[in-house]
Amino acid sequence: MTEPGANSGGLQPRHESQGFHGFREAARRMFYDALQRLSAEGVLAIAADELPGLVEQVRETADPKFGDYSGTMAMALAKRAGQKPRDVAIEIIRRLDVGDLFDPPTEPVGPGFINLRVRDDALALAVVAASRDPRMGVAPVDVPETIVIDFGGPNVAKPMHVGHIRSTVIGDALARILEFRGHITITDDHLGDWGTQFGMILWGWKHCRDAVRFAADPTRELGRLYRLVRKVADSKPEELACDPEAAALAARYPETSREVLHETAKLHEGDPESRALWKQFMPLCRAEIDRIFSRLHVTFDHTLGESFYQPMLASVVAELMADQAVRARASRGAIGIFLNGDDSPPFLIRKADGAFLYATTDLATLKWRMEHWKPDRILYVVDSRQGPHFEQLFATAKLWGCGDRQRINGVELVHVAFGTVLGEDGKPFKTRAGDTVGLESLLDEGVERALQIVGSGEEGRGGLSVADRRHVAETVGIGAVKYADLCQNRTTDYVFSFDKMLQLTGNTAAYMQYAVARVEGIFSRAGIDRAALRESAASVRLSTPQERALALELVRFSEAIEDVETDYRPNVLTAWLFRLAGCYSSFYDALPVLKAEGNDRDSRLALCDLTGRILRQGLELLGIGTVEKM
Ligand code: ARG
Repeated sequence: MTEPGANSGGLQPRHESQGFHGFREAARRMFYDALQRLSAEGVLAIAADELPGLVEQVRETADPKFGDYSGTMAMALAKRAGQKPRDVAIEIIRRLDVGDLFDPPTEPVGPGFINLRVRDDALALAVVAASRDPRMGVAPVDVPETIVIDFGGPNVAKPMHVGHIRSTVIGDALARILEFRGHITITDDHLGDWGTQFGMILWGWKHCRDAVRFAADPTRELGRLYRLVRKVADSKPEELACDPEAAALAARYPETSREVLHETAKLHEGDPESRALWKQFMPLCRAEIDRIFSRLHVTFDHTLGESFYQPMLASVVAELMADQAVRARASRGAIGIFLNGDDSPPFLIRKADGAFLYATTDLATLKWRMEHWKPDRILYVVDSRQGPHFEQLFATAKLWGCGDRQRINGVELVHVAFGTVLGEDGKPFKTRAGDTVGLESLLDEGVERALQIVGSGEEGRGGLSVADRRHVAETVGIGAVKYADLCQNRTTDYVFSFDKMLQLTGNTAAYMQYAVARVEGIFSRAGIDRAALRESAASVRLSTPQERALALELVRFSEAIEDVETDYRPNVLTAWLFRLAGCYSSFYDALPVLKAEGNDRDSRLALCDLTGRILRQGLELLGIGTVEKM
């Protein structure tokens, strides 16, 4: 991904689609002009700043019998002017110049809908243009922004579990999509490598480590220590009855939770022994995390964990105390920012024992990012349970100039929140033993199950060698887990189900990957040169409803990814890809392609080719791989 300041590398070449941002955008511009005229002519008073919101109401229709796009603003405009919606709609239609893109609407439909149908010749031209365009008809944004995407961010030394999949997969997809849109993206893995879990591990290391286990599998032993010490430190004695080891430890060291805090504080103060152990543990933990990220095909531009900001924390606290707008101050020995008056709990930035907090690090991180990357936006892809933290962080940021008030107030800070992964029982996903589900074992199981699907039948079936099958299974299995997460509305909780996510029909990665492989199959079976086909594709003929429906969906790719950005929801893209695949199926089932004659054959092949490319590109934007055969 590109560094800020660098030019956005190849994202803005002149290409066929430049200037044309799709039919919806074109329709919105037409409505914009019409409404402006309506206002200028004194028919209806519409303020200039209302126009963007009004034209955003131009959306695709749910049913092609109402045309392809529909404007609904006549209703709201009529209501406030005390007029009839139909009359307002008629006035808008009179001023609507649809050029040669749409059939001119004759009259409003229903209470006052203005429906537009894309002209078949314009649609065919758009398909040809998309077909010849390396970006498949997706024009880059007019104003690229620098966007920092903070995602992943597991707490090291704790085993990565199912919860981590969400931030990683959603953040990675958003980064890919925003970059493809033409923005300058900076991805940063804000590792939790300095938090209280190290206090637990350090305490555990000193009081109950198992040298043999550590030698055999160091991260596993660190994980065990973490879980054990957390249990001892956080539980009341009666809660430990069923865990003899923890109970014995708790009985022997009744002050564990206080001592754990002390260990964290010592690490933060620079105690040499604690630092040395931390340095010993870090590479082990990092290797484990990197292995999982690489299996997920997720990379970061930067991995600036909490420890990176540690030297800045004291001065950040001092700055926040000195800042007249923030007025951080002492409260019972600790230091906090009183965002909601003196009586509400403050946003704590330093504890009474001197330890800094998650909040302190996030403030230092924000300052550092502003100074070094000068972003227009920062997205924090983090569990929705951290909502209150981000509200306070953003409120503080607003007060705080970060040395340059203009900049920090100019940056848009977004908590891209997501819900919890649930087990089939509807409760947070746990193993039978009640532990959180390890991420790696989950990926292994996904791949194993995929192998059973692609591997059923005799050896080498469908021309796949054993090694090919492994590769396909890895792609399908990992893809299934990622897609199952991405296709959910991110803010809701969802139930994790291998059975559902690996189905070959329905809204699953496997179904999409299969659709891509099917398209590939057509071209490889017939030995057709796809690049030559694109170059020569002089015209696309849309003589049947299936061809037209497919063509219309194909040129909506840019709308789908634009809509992802609006609310940072990758499921908008998955839903659209699923619809595209559905249109393709109807087309392919109804019409001959290779057996079609002359122009129809080339035209249909061009539709197949573009479908395959867009499905593949769409999956790639979601971080999901494809295979030629499955
Ligand atoms: N390490 C954190 C956690 O596991 C996530 C970090 C998110 N990023 C941030 N800037 N706070 O909860």
